[in-house]
Amino acid sequence: HPRAGLATAHTNIALVKYWGKKDEKLRLPFTDSLSLTVNDFYTTTQVVVRDDGAPRRFRLSGQEVNGPAAERVWKYIERLQRRFGVSGTLDISTANHVPMSAGLASSSSAFAALAGAFAAAYELNVDREELSRMARLGSGSASRSVYGGFSRWIAGHDDATSRAVALDENPDLDIRLLAVQVDVSPKSVPSTQGMRRVVETSPYFPVWVEQTSKACDEMEKAIERRDFTAIGEIAQQNALDMHALNLTARPGFTYFQPQTLLVLQLVDELRHNGVECYSTMDAGSNVKVLVQSGNEARVRARIYEVLPQAPITSTGAGSGLVMTTL
Ligand code: DP6
Repeated sequence: HPRAGLATAHTNIALVKYWGKKDEKLRLPFTDSLSLTVNDFYTTTQVVVRDDGAPRRFRLSGQEVNGPAAERVWKYIERLQRRFGVSGTLDISTANHVPMSAGLASSSSAFAALAGAFAAAYELNVDREELSRMARLGSGSASRSVYGGFSRWIAGHDDATSRAVALDENPDLDIRLLAVQVDVSPKSVPSTQGMRRVVETSPYFPVWVEQTSKACDEMEKAIERRDFTAIGEIAQQNALDMHALNLTARPGFTYFQPQTLLVLQLVDELRHNGVECYSTMDAGSNVKVLVQSGNEARVRARIYEVLPQAPITSTGAGSGLVMTTL
């Protein structure tokens, strides 16, 4: 009977962003980054190792996938097979559990789940830091989805030292994340390309590296103190820094859509009126709002008043990678 592995990983949202690689092949970042793994968005992946001569197959929600997305997966699998000295034709099936409207489809849960399912199928003897390194090779942000709650990706200086570590997997802190979908059009610049452009062309890139490294240390302390205000302030500023940096690339680019700015302004307006909340954004036009549960309804109501057509999905802290050999 063929060997098989099954794994589930949750998406993570960076509170201090990874935005720039020193080494693209190994996915070594310029800075540490820090994130919250969330509960409601996750990927489940099954890997079956076959030796019956059947062709390899990659299915997403039951549909066979070919083209660039599948190529990225197969290149990644071949790399893992070489690294661990294992062989076999793989049958991969994966399902993304992301609410249709959230606009949160993410490579972080996808590559963490794939790394976990691969390790489980071959019964590799790997600890979580090694799983994090494996996930990192698929997509940088996936290195952090191995853990639940808050985790920090240590930039490191080579393949062995660049991996995420858990900071607090079951945080005793009230923190919610509201994903506000302002636009449905596909992202203009994929993250791999966006970060390459700022690394190669922005005269402000060294400043970003310096500020982000500081932000990581401050964020880790804020998490230790369970200081929601500091967490929110550092996260919002770091996201604004990243999006400002993009405008300084040559040529400059932005993920902002007109309605993005509207939501950012609403978040600041709410906070000035005593409803504490903060914004963060990734490589897309959607805004994620950090809020404590007592204020969640007020934030939703205000955004709904101004943007009734923007779907809002709410989530809290989630758990780390779970894997089993079948
Ligand atoms: C803005 O992990 O998608 O979400 O390593 O090229 O696959 P690759 O990049 P990816 O970049 C994520 C960028 C970000 C910030 C973050 O998650 O830290």
